[in-house]
Amino acid sequence: MKKICVVGLGYIGLPTASILANNGYDVLGIDINEKVIEKLRNGTPHIEEPDLKGIFISAINSGKLRVSKKIEKSDVFIISVPTPLTEDKKADLSYVESASKEISKCIEKGNLVILESTSPPGTTEKLVGGIILNSSGLKAGADYLLSFCPERVLPGKIMYELVNNTRIIGGINKESAIKAREIYSSFVKAEIYLTDLKTAEFVKLTENTYRDVNLAFSNELSLICNYYNINVWDVIRFANMHPRVNILSPGPGVGGHCIPIDPWFMIQNLGRENTLIEKCRNINNEMPFIISRKVVELIKDKKSPKATLFGASYKEDIGDTRESPTVAVIKELKKEKINVSVYDPLAENSKYELSSLEDSLKGSDILVLLVSHSIFRNLDMNYVAGLMRTRNIFDTRNFFKKDEIEGYGFKYFSL
Ligand SMILES: NC(=O)c1ccc[n+]([C@@H]2O[C@H](COP(=O)([O-])OP(=O)(O)OC[C@H]3O[C@@H](n4cnc5c(N)ncnc54)[C@H](O)[C@@H]3O)[C@@H](O)[C@H]2O)c1
Repeated sequence: MKKICVVGLGYIGLPTASILANNGYDVLGIDINEKVIEKLRNGTPHIEEPDLKGIFISAINSGKLRVSKKIEKSDVFIISVPTPLTEDKKADLSYVESASKEISKCIEKGNLVILESTSPPGTTEKLVGGIILNSSGLKAGADYLLSFCPERVLPGKIMYELVNNTRIIGGINKESAIKAREIYSSFVKAEIYLTDLKTAEFVKLTENTYRDVNLAFSNELSLICNYYNINVWDVIRFANMHPRVNILSPGPGVGGHCIPIDPWFMIQNLGRENTLIEKCRNINNEMPFIISRKVVELIKDKKSPKATLFGASYKEDIGDTRESPTVAVIKELKKEKINVSVYDPLAENSKYELSSLEDSLKGSDILVLLVSHSIFRNLDMNYVAGLMRTRNIFDTRNFFKKDEIEGYGFKYFSL
C-alpha cells in the first residue's frame, strides 16, 4: 500500500495528505475546488493552521505530494470531504456521495477505502460501500477493504494533534481496521484502537455531543445564576474543584463545524423528539439571542445606538468563522436597529464586513466581548475607552477583570 489518494483538501485532508507524504507515501491530493488546487500548486496552503505551511511545502518539494482535480488509481483512498448540516438538521452526505462515486471509477480489488468525514452511524457501510458496489461491482470486505477513521483534532492545533491524539479505527472486518492502522501508524505516536465501523462512527459523535451537553449545562447555569444574581464563573470555578466535576465555560453560543452539528447526526434517525441532546442543542442555539437581548436592553435608549463586537471567529485564537455565534448576534442586533461593527484581526472569510479597531469603537455605546482572543489582552483600554461614546463592556467570556475595567470608567456586565 504505497500510493494514497486523499479526497478533499480542507482542514483535515490537506494536513493528512502532507503528513503522509512526509512519511514516505506517494500521495495524490484531490479537490473539486479549482481555486484550492491553484493555490496549492503555487505552494501556499489555502487555510491558516499553525505549522501547516512548512509541512506542506516540504511534502511538495520532496515530490511525494501532488495535487490535482482528477482522481487516479491508488492503493488507498481517504475521504475527507465536508459533512455539513441540512436545513432540516440532518447530515448532508452529498459530498461523501460524490467522493465515493469518484473512487468507484478507479477502485481495484485489494484497495483500502477510508472515510474520515464525520457521519451518522451506518454511513461508511451503507452509503460508501453501497455506491462503490453499485458503480464498480466490488463488495466491501470481500473485494476491497473499508474503514472509518474519525478525526478528533482541534483547529489551531491540528498538526500537533494529528500526530499525538489517540485514534479509534473501525473496519468492516478486522483486516480493514488493521490495514488502516498500518497507514496511520506511519505518523501517529499515540495508541490506535480498533473496532467495527458503526462503533467508530458513533464514538466520534459521542465525543462532540458530550461537549455540547456539557456546554448547554454551563449555559443553563449562567441563566439560573443570573436569576439569583450569583456569579456563574465563580460557581463553576468552585464546583470544578470537586475531583469528579468538570463543567465547561458558558458563552455566547457554540460554534464551529463540529460541536453544533454532530449531535444532530446522532439523533437524526431515531424518530424521537425532545431528547436531552436536542434540548441541549436548543439551549446552546438560544445563547446568541439572549446575549443580543441584553445588549439591546443596555443601549436601546441611546440616539442611533452602536454596538462593537469583539471576535468573529467561533473560538479563541483562530480565524475560522464557520458557524460562529457572532453571526447570529449581528443579525439580531441589526433587526433591532442597532448599528453594529465587528473587530477581529484574526478572522478569515467573515460573512460580515470587519472594521479596524478605531472604526469599530468610534462612537460606540458598548463593547461586547464574544471571543477571548489572546491579542485582545494587549489592548490599551484607555485608548479603547477614549474612542467610545458610552463606556459599557459586556463580557460574555469572563475575559476582563471587573475591577480593572471599572478603573477605566467602564460599566462592566457579564453573563
Ligand atoms: N476541521 C476540523 O477541525 C474537523 C475536526 C474533526 C472532524 N472534521 C470532519 O472532517 C470532514 C472534513 O472537514 P474539513 O474541515 O476538512 O472540511 P473543509 O471544508 O475544510 O474541506 C473539505 C474539502 O473537500 C473538498 N471537496 C468537497 N467535495 C469533494 C469531492 N467530491 N472531491 C474532492 N474534494 C471535495 C472541498 O472543496 C474542500 O476543499 C468533515 O466531515 C468534518 O466534520 C473536521
